[in-house]
Amino acid sequence: MTAKTIHLKETDSTNSVAYSLAEDGVAHGTAVVAEYQSLGRGRLGKSWQSPANQGLYCSFVIRPNLATSDYPLITMSAGLGVALALEETSALEFSLKWPNDIYRNGRKCGGILVESSPLTNHHKEHFVVVGVGLNVNNRANDFPQEIGDKATSLYIEGGKVMDKQVVFEVIRGQLLYQLQRLEGEGFAGILKQWSEKDMLVGKQLSWVTRLGEVVEGLSLGPDSSGRLHVKDKSGVIHEVLSGDISLSKTA
Ligand code: BTN
Repeated sequence: MTAKTIHLKETDSTNSVAYSLAEDGVAHGTAVVAEYQSLGRGRLGKSWQSPANQGLYCSFVIRPNLATSDYPLITMSAGLGVALALEETSALEFSLKWPNDIYRNGRKCGGILVESSPLTNHHKEHFVVVGVGLNVNNRANDFPQEIGDKATSLYIEGGKVMDKQVVFEVIRGQLLYQLQRLEGEGFAGILKQWSEKDMLVGKQLSWVTRLGEVVEGLSLGPDSSGRLHVKDKSGVIHEVLSGDISLSKTA
């Protein structure tokens, strides 16, 4: 079966569409792109504003040839692929914020939402949906006030209107390549390249755990299993698997 790209004028969430297609058995690499999402979602239950004509909203069906214990590595591998794709298309440099946000000049330009099928199914049927949301041609005053000073776009950074179709194609190539590399070579090379783009390493950060507890500490960077190491004031090293991370105000 060959991978196709499905272009939609509008949908609730490309991740939801890709998830249903994956359940129906579409091929690895199948992509869904929408001009507008009415219910775009981000990590940790947040929403992802998806206005028409500004951003790129796409999702990929991935059928990983990996042990399920390695699935957390897909997130960072995809983040590296997206950052490299953006560098290729814009000739600008981007940084990565664990686990998978794309930043430029301290502002968020894009994010990735990875959702997997229940791991209780037979392993041959497991799939993962990798959703990419990217601010492409947004102007500064397009962003809602509450995120205006935290967000940026390729247009704001590079001063050029970008062809979203070209950006999509390059992202698809890089993302599938990095995942193939993860399957073939393992995570070490990806982690090395990812770490060169790590915007948090050596900085003070706040980590809000899933239980709402706030931990302040120094980022030591992610380890070979994708966990972020954070050293708190008493010297305890926390291995963070998920949660909301932000730079401390004093950092
Ligand atoms: C984040 O930064 O929290 C991740 C944002 C991911 C947004 C993308 S847009 C395409 C895909 N469809 C969704 O509903 N979410 C992802």
